[in-house]
Amino acid sequence: RWQVNFNATNWSDAAEAAQAAAALIAGALVAVPTETVYGLAADATNGEACARIYEAKGRPQFNPLISHVDSFAQAREHGLFSPTATRLAEAFWPGPLTLVVPRAPTSTISSLATAGLDTVALRVPAGPVMRLMARMTGRPIAAPSANLSGRISPTTADDVARDLETSLTWLIDAGPCRVGVESTILAVEGETVTLLRPGGLAREDVEALLGHPIASAQQLDGDTAPLAPGMLSSHYAPNAGVRLNATEVLAGEALLAFGPELPGQADQARAIFNLSPSGDLTEAAARLFSGLRALDASGASAICVAPIPFQGLGEAINDRLSRAAAPRS
Ligand code: TXA
Ligand code: MG
Repeated sequence: RWQVNFNATNWSDAAEAAQAAAALIAGALVAVPTETVYGLAADATNGEACARIYEAKGRPQFNPLISHVDSFAQAREHGLFSPTATRLAEAFWPGPLTLVVPRAPTSTISSLATAGLDTVALRVPAGPVMRLMARMTGRPIAAPSANLSGRISPTTADDVARDLETSLTWLIDAGPCRVGVESTILAVEGETVTLLRPGGLAREDVEALLGHPIASAQQLDGDTAPLAPGMLSSHYAPNAGVRLNATEVLAGEALLAFGPELPGQADQARAIFNLSPSGDLTEAAARLFSGLRALDASGASAICVAPIPFQGLGEAINDRLSRAAAPRS
């Protein structure tokens, strides 16, 4: 386990970076930070290495994985980009956006990473460590969030270690993730764009670029088979129960607050974590998963959550919270 110091000018030359890249090429699992969450990374072209990801996470099915690349040029080796997909890539990469596009005939991504689909999920992250791994290995890097299936996504190296330390060859620690919720996933079929998962890039920014509203997969596809596992009902689950849109704190509950005003009876909360006392949704997204973990650790039987607006990153925050509150199967 090694620490990357972003203030050092030579961090990308660190000997450990070369060793982590070599481990990836050898088929091992490495935890790699991105600007959204920490990823459980493997060589996307190596089927056995991808199988290890599913095994380590305890993922119930072979849900497709996102492949991370260093540049749009590397993305084009694996996906076919329509004019609209190209505009999105050029506007928002590197960044918290994943594009699901038709798989290119030249792609070497394993069918275990794509779950046998004829599409691929590609992302050029803003987090430089993941891009460095793609560049040093020369391979696309498959990585879901580095947590056990169904648990809270990790935004620090300690979070990753708690869930997965025994599965990892390297855990690259670059401090807390800046964005804090997973990437926004857009499917692009020709010029039609569908939101598969709200995330770290706000819907408004995508709609402003395209000049029209975009549909959500949920609207298109009701409650049938999930298009993205983030869409399974119970996900991001703390041990405590979760109660949304709380206007009052009940006895024994911990409070996940937002903004300057607290719900009624806040003084009887077992613990309080304010996502953003000033009411800033970007700050709230960055603190969401660590807040859920902190309140879970308080031992409260339930976490009540103050209402959070739906605009900007509020859409992704509300999406993750409603999954955390969903009935557990
Ligand atoms: O921010 C993120 O996106 C993080 C970091 C590590 O990059 N990764 C992440 O991966 O959240 P994961 O596995 O938790 O979510 C990947 C999502 C899944 O919901 C999956 O169904 C969807 O991407 N996905 C992947 N390939 C797809 C495809 N071909 N069609 C539709 N959905 C796809
Ligand atoms: Mg995940």
